[in-house]
Amino acid sequence: MSVSIDFEGRVALVTGGATGLGLAIAEALGQAGARLALNDISSTRAERACAGLLAAGYVCHPVPADVRDATAVQAMVDATITQYGRLDIVVANAGVYPNTPFLDLTESEWDFTFDTNAKGVFLTCRSAARAMLELGEGGAIVTISSGAATNAIWGWSHYCASKAAVVMLTKGMALELAQHNIRVNAVLPGFIDVPEGGAPLSPAFREAQHAAIPRPRLGEPRDIANAVVLLASPLADWITGTTLVVDGGSSAGRAKLRPVDV
Ligand SMILES: NC(=O)c1ccc[n+]([C@@H]2O[C@H](COP(=O)([O-])OP(=O)(O)OC[C@H]3O[C@@H](n4cnc5c(N)ncnc54)[C@H](O)[C@@H]3O)[C@@H](O)[C@H]2O)c1
Repeated sequence: MSVSIDFEGRVALVTGGATGLGLAIAEALGQAGARLALNDISSTRAERACAGLLAAGYVCHPVPADVRDATAVQAMVDATITQYGRLDIVVANAGVYPNTPFLDLTESEWDFTFDTNAKGVFLTCRSAARAMLELGEGGAIVTISSGAATNAIWGWSHYCASKAAVVMLTKGMALELAQHNIRVNAVLPGFIDVPEGGAPLSPAFREAQHAAIPRPRLGEPRDIANAVVLLASPLADWITGTTLVVDGGSSAGRAKLRPVDV
């Protein structure tokens, strides 16, 4: 038996797609045949990333918007449908992860993190789901949460809380949208090195993260992208409202703690 995923004729919108996991997700969806609407907060970043994807042979249209802004998000979805006439897959990936100890956390950093990571996902998914409903062909929505939704990380109390919110939002949307043939699932990535990222991470943190991975290699953006492709595909037709942890086994237990010497 051979299994293949083909998004030929489908349209996929990826938020925060200019770099990191979002760019890898856009590339993987493009490779599977989807036409891409690529969002990022600045038009220069979105256009540059799209130009790269076009040069690599994919169909890509930049749809810049700040996902914290409801009007801009609606315009992003409208622009996608104006360009392609349909919307089948949405990946709510845009996120920020500033690191600040809880006692020093300011209200503005809390708001920035929640506005981007939680409200941004809400606004993106609401506009997209309404459009999918109107187009009448259903669709697949994938939110990008984090392993931090279930395991606290020092300095990231606000980030962890925002990513836990994404998990419950995903489940709530899945319940209500299933009747419209729209599936909604969350991917919870483990630690993945990306070129930009939120905070300059200490070598000790990086090393500890790498050491906690049972699989004998580091995770790559493509590992997260592959999970998104799977959840967006017809292979996942009966999967909705779930979370898929993609972390090389890091959250399964303590990889380096062995009761006997081996
Ligand atoms: N890299 C990891 O280890 C990791 C682990 C778990 C979860 N995640 C999540 O994956 C997602 C992508 O993370 P990444 O590591 O690729 O980060 P990144 O910083 O490399 O990329 C995030 C992108 O989102 C864009 N963005 C930020 N705010 C935006 C806004 N308001 N509107 C539109 N675009 C905006 C940025 O410009 C950037 O291009 C985030 O939601 C992050 O929380 C990442």
